[in-house]
Amino acid sequence: MAAENVNNPQCGSALGEMSVIELKKEIKRLKHEKNALIMAHYYQRDEIQEVADFIGDSLALARKAAETDADIIVMCGVHFMGETAKILCPDKKVIIPDAEAGCSLADSCDPEEFAEFVAAHPDHTVVSYVNTSAAVKAHTDIVVTSGNARKVIDSLPEDEKIIFGPDRNLGEYINTVTGRRMLLWDGACHVHERFSLERILEMKKEHPGAKILVHPECKRPLQLIADKVGSTAALLDFAANDDGKEYIVVTESGILFEMRNKCPEKTFLAAPAEDAECQCNQCDYMKLNTLRKVYDCLLTETPEILVEPQLAEKALRPIERMLALS
Ligand code: 13P
Ligand code: SF4
Repeated sequence: MAAENVNNPQCGSALGEMSVIELKKEIKRLKHEKNALIMAHYYQRDEIQEVADFIGDSLALARKAAETDADIIVMCGVHFMGETAKILCPDKKVIIPDAEAGCSLADSCDPEEFAEFVAAHPDHTVVSYVNTSAAVKAHTDIVVTSGNARKVIDSLPEDEKIIFGPDRNLGEYINTVTGRRMLLWDGACHVHERFSLERILEMKKEHPGAKILVHPECKRPLQLIADKVGSTAALLDFAANDDGKEYIVVTESGILFEMRNKCPEKTFLAAPAEDAECQCNQCDYMKLNTLRKVYDCLLTETPEILVEPQLAEKALRPIERMLALS
């Protein structure tokens, strides 16, 4: 990678301008000095995945947070991922490179409205996707990620009435593959909803041998044309163990970094979005984190993720129930 200047004028660091190489060296030094663990989601910028000690999907990040003996967790992902880590490790310091890194899906589920929905269906078990605030998790019986949703739902009695929120596309997918009729909250992720079926079919015509990999947060028509529907880790796993040579990847394009790392002999094409100007699909929240901000947050140990203890206690139970099941 070119040693481009990544100086951020907003940052008051005494080190002034630093190259990517210097930043990586300093990040490494600081993380050893502070016994910090850098975790990154697959949607993070390539250079952040390069400095991370651990990269994974939401489920793997939660599992890793639960077992680490580091003093500081640097969560290079979005806010709910940091919050989940903090709930699992209340005694550790959890920091995130950019406090504004939120999630449109989590935002599509207002805790008060969700509480009313739950109260209106008292005989239902409440299953929530991990992409939710701690306040929503506090109204939940079991948390799931896209990596274990099917397994968790299959573990519930067949006649159990279930509320599933907030992602309607993942909920619809789970209803289809399990034959359940879960009551769905009407939420969605802006990144996964903006993929264009039409443009992906055009791409498939140009690459007839390519297999289509789809995240379950995408709309149903996209799920229907998929060779594989799965979480980021499941899509990676499929590509690594499949005999295909070319793939159209219908999820946030950050995943291509690890796909190309794991399978250098294969070709991965980022699926196009509805907007013809947009060649790939990126999560603006995930991309708020930069290498410079990783360095700054390690140096200053801010911004810190804090969860009010009573709320954390309520949100912990459904997360632990998920971890015990999967
Ligand atoms: P995964 O659990 O598949 O990593 O998904 C997280 C996410 O935010 C998808 O948009
Ligand atoms: Fe949230 Fe969508 Fe970004 Fe994932 S890709 S963090 S669901 S906004």
